[in-house]
Parts: sequence; structure tokens; C-alpha cells
Amino acid sequence: MCGIVGYIGKDEKRNIIIDGLRELEYRGYDSAGMAVMSQDEISYFKAVGKLDNLADKTKDFSSSGLGVAIGHTRWATHGKPTEINAHPHLGEHSFVVHNGIIENYKELKEELEGKGVKFLSQTDTEVIVHLFEENLKHIKDPFKAYEATIARLHGAYATLLITKTAPNKIFFAKVAAPLAIGKNDKNEIYFASSDAPLIGVAKEVSYLDDKAYGVVGIDSIEIYKDGKKITPHFSTLPKDRSYAQKEGYRFFMEKEIYEQNTVVSEAIMGRVKNGKICLENLTDEYLKNIDNIVLCACGTSYHAALTASYLFERLADVRVKVEFASEFRYRKPKLNTNSLFIVISQSGETADTLEALKIAKEAGLKTLAICNVDNSSIVRLADTTLLTRAGIEKGVASTKAFATQIVLLWMLVLQMASAKKSISQSELDTEISALLHIPQILNIDNSLQERIHRLAKHYLHGHGFFFIGRDIFYPLALEGALKLKEISYLHAEGYPAGEMKHGPIALADDRLFTIALMPQTTLYEKTKSNVEELAARDAYILAISPNEFELSDDFIKTSKQEHPMSEFFEMMIILQIFALEISIRLGNNVDMPRNLAKSVTVE
Ligand code: G6P
Repeated sequence: MCGIVGYIGKDEKRNIIIDGLRELEYRGYDSAGMAVMSQDEISYFKAVGKLDNLADKTKDFSSSGLGVAIGHTRWATHGKPTEINAHPHLGEHSFVVHNGIIENYKELKEELEGKGVKFLSQTDTEVIVHLFEENLKHIKDPFKAYEATIARLHGAYATLLITKTAPNKIFFAKVAAPLAIGKNDKNEIYFASSDAPLIGVAKEVSYLDDKAYGVVGIDSIEIYKDGKKITPHFSTLPKDRSYAQKEGYRFFMEKEIYEQNTVVSEAIMGRVKNGKICLENLTDEYLKNIDNIVLCACGTSYHAALTASYLFERLADVRVKVEFASEFRYRKPKLNTNSLFIVISQSGETADTLEALKIAKEAGLKTLAICNVDNSSIVRLADTTLLTRAGIEKGVASTKAFATQIVLLWMLVLQMASAKKSISQSELDTEISALLHIPQILNIDNSLQERIHRLAKHYLHGHGFFFIGRDIFYPLALEGALKLKEISYLHAEGYPAGEMKHGPIALADDRLFTIALMPQTTLYEKTKSNVEELAARDAYILAISPNEFELSDDFIKTSKQEHPMSEFFEMMIILQIFALEISIRLGNNVDMPRNLAKSVTVE
């Protein structure tokens, strides 16, 4: 999703913007641009494709001395990813960058065109800069003209504007899209869509509230909300940027797969005490009285929700509904005010999930966020948060965030089950010892990737993949298929193993790949007969199981485990590496797959 950076100060600005945008690359984008103003001169550059193209275009440009700069990576929503549509968008003397969607842009555009304004791009963003310049014709004060501009915008936006009419100033506004301001001892001010670009350059950060807007200059930060000046709260930023490096791995996704054992340990740490689960901010008393849960999320986080729904019902004896946030928002859901509404989001910024959370809050439900990014919009809105502690996830295809979400949800189930006494102490003991064993399960054996690497060559063609499983291995199958689609661009579907015979089996032939999750602990015989039905129709079978399966064409042997969750996590790793290896063989950009964004801040 689009990324924004901004800077006011005396340092060389081109590098600051390019470096800042690099830290936001993980959000996904298809073009990039920057505008730099120094001594009343504005220079701007745009390039389609990767940031290297913009870096190349600007390699002979530099600008030091007091000035301002704004930069942007664009993930196309209105209009194709072309240079014209790339940000910054310009008027006669001003430039704007924007993340989000201006919902009433058509109406504003018509109004401006009626006044003779010429638009260059197909974007919604361009209205901001023209509206500002129109307003400036009759409201002479640039800040007041900016205030009047944003008052007309409907939708979601984080936006920065610079103008020759107010040198060395950046105007900014934020509604339902992330924007943070960083400052340091050198009187420099930075803006960014997340704190990643600020680490190492700014000392303190303030995450702007929704509807905050204002203006910053070299030694002043003025922030307003609802027409009133507010005092921003700044907190200290960490100094360490090393987390962002690949540490010897070829791809962030690969590194993130391998670090799942450590991050899962982090997620568990301090949350198991004296043989009990004790999640911060959640008392047994609170959990005991919940008999209804709605789990709501998008993408991979939705798969974590679906997995958890099996656990909640089975162990905590609680009614559960799982919702796609994008569907939930618009279908007049019947809500029970006694429900606990749980949103799951890696980024904490997914627009649909955020809006669903707002609906649940407004309806008076108790809300809980399971999230990886502290201070994100979702965390700030939810009544309570459990942070997944996966560390920044840079690969667009989510891996370690998923693992930690599942672990957190499982712990929540267990605390609830124990509070409700829906499981016995000895069952709880077994669950907790399985939980504590997961980091070990996530230690990846050296030979596994090599084995999958060799197998992957069989799977580069064919007319599609079916990932199948039962029970919690069904959402895992969905996730395995999603991983493969995201980074290999091959068609893959996840399906409940028992449903194959109700339609999809018609597709079975020797070019249909079936990835069968056949755990020993969960409905092994049932799954096996479903796979046999497919094998009988000549489907090409990759079986993943601790038990040899004579009808499979390929086989990945997993270890014998007593607990379904142990088998779940072992198979999860296999599916992640399987997708990774196929993507590498196909020569794709593993970390930044085409058309995808890490943080989808538009609906
Ligand atoms: C995007 C990402 C997915 C992610 C989904 C939900 O589509 O590409 O990887 O699962 O958003 O994101 P969230 O941050 O809310 O978990």
C-alpha cells in the first residue's frame, strides 16, 4: 500500500527520501516519486516500478541547505501505475502526496474543471493540490487554505503538501490511514507512514490521531483536531535498524520463516505462569462470562481466525463466528452486545478490519485486537490488545505473523477454557506442554528446504493446485494455497478434504496437483480416503504426513507428534517453504510480489 515520507531540515534530501521509501517498500507499490523544495525552487521526479528506478533518475540530483522534501511509493487504486499517476501530484506551485482514497474526488474534480483547472492524472489525489491552490486564490493564508481544503475531503487519507507560497513548511492531514511525525535534536522533522523510516534518524515519534492536521516548520509543529490546537504526545524511538536486514538470507520471507521459532517463543514469553495462561489485560473473570465470539480479519489473518474458531468451540465451549472484514462491513450483521469482537491484523492498518472494528465498537461490543504493530490504528481503537511480538514483517506474504497470531489465539482459547472450566486441569496441562513445545517444532531441519527445493521443480506447470485438509488443517490448507498464489502466481485453492468430491474432483487429472495435509492426530483415515479418491482419478499427489502413503507421487514425511497443533506448525513450515521454493524457481520477486501490498489501507 502507498507509503509516505517527508522531511524538513538542512541535510541532503534526495537520500533521506530514497532511504525512507526503502523502509516502506514492504508495504507494496508500483511507482514512486519525490518533490524537493529548497530556496523557493521545487524539483520533482517520478518513476514507474521499483524504487531503484527513482534512485537512478535522481542519482545526479542533490539538495542540501534548509528545505523540505516529500516522497511517495504508490500502489495503484485510481488509474494505472504510470509516471503521470505517480505522486507527487502538482499544481502551479504546490505538490502533494497521499495514501488512501478521496471518495468524493469526482465531484471535486468536476467542480475544479468547471473553474478551468486542468488535471494531468487519473488519480483521486490530484484534486487535493488543485483545491488547495483554488482556495489560496481567495483565502490568502496558506494554512487556512489548507484547512479549507481538507475540510472538503471525504474518505481516508494521510497526505503531505508543500507549496512555494509557504517555503520550508509541510502541511499534513490524516484520517484512517497511518501517519507519524518524528523529530530529533538537530531540529529536523520527518514524516512517515510507519515508524520504520524514522528509526535511526529521528529520536522521538508521535503517531497522529485520526482527523489530525497541521503544519510543521523548521522549529515548530502545529497540530489541530476539530479546529482546536492539540499538543502531540511524543515517545522515544528505538535506535536499532539492524532488524531490517536480511541477515544472510536471500529474502525477507525466508528469514521470517526461519525466525518463527524465536518469535513464537517471544509471543509465549511471560504469558504462561504457574501452569496457567495469563494474558495481560485479560482476567479470568472477564473471559468466563463470554459465550459468544466474532473473529474478524482479512487474508492470512482470516486464516488464523478460522483456525482459532475450531479451538474456541472445541476447548472453550464458546459460540464463534468468523467474518471476512470486507463482508462484515456492509451486510448489516446482527450483533450481540455480549459478544467479544476479536480483530486479527498483522499490520493493524488494514482498512476493512479497522472499519469492522469501528462498527463493533459503535454497536457496544467488547473488542480485542490481536496485532503485530503497537500504536497502529487498530491497536489504538480496540479496547484491549494482545501484541503478537513477531517483529517487523517485511515479506509481503505473511509467515511469522501468522504463526504468532495462531499461538496468541490458542493461548486465549486456553485461558478462556480454564476460566470457564470447560477443560480439565490435566487437559490444560497437556495443551500447555504442547504450546511450550512449538518453538522446537519450528526449528527447521537443514535438509528440509533442500528436499523441498528438489521437489519444487515438479510443480512449476500443471493447471492448478488443491491444498486439502480437515479440521484445523483446512484453514492451514487455505493458507498454504494463499502463500503459493501470492508469490508464485500459480492458481491454487484450499479446500476441505471432504468437499473435494462435491465438485472439484471433476478437475482431477495428472496435471492437477493435490497437496494433501494428512496429520496422524486429526481424522487421518477420513482424509486418507479423500486423497485416495483423488489418486484414483489420476491427480498428482504430494502427501504431507508422518505416515507413508503409497498412493502419493511425492511425499514429505513429518515427525510423529501427539498434539494436532504440533502437526499444524510442522506442516505450516513445509507449506511456506514449498511456496518459497516454487517462487524462487519461477524467478519471481519473493518479497514484493506483483499487485500485492503489505498493508492494505484502502478498502
Ligand atoms: C494484505 C496482505 C496479506 C494480509 C492481509 C491482511 O492483503 O498482502 O498478506 O494477510 O493484507 O493484513 P493484516 O495486516 O490485517 O493482517
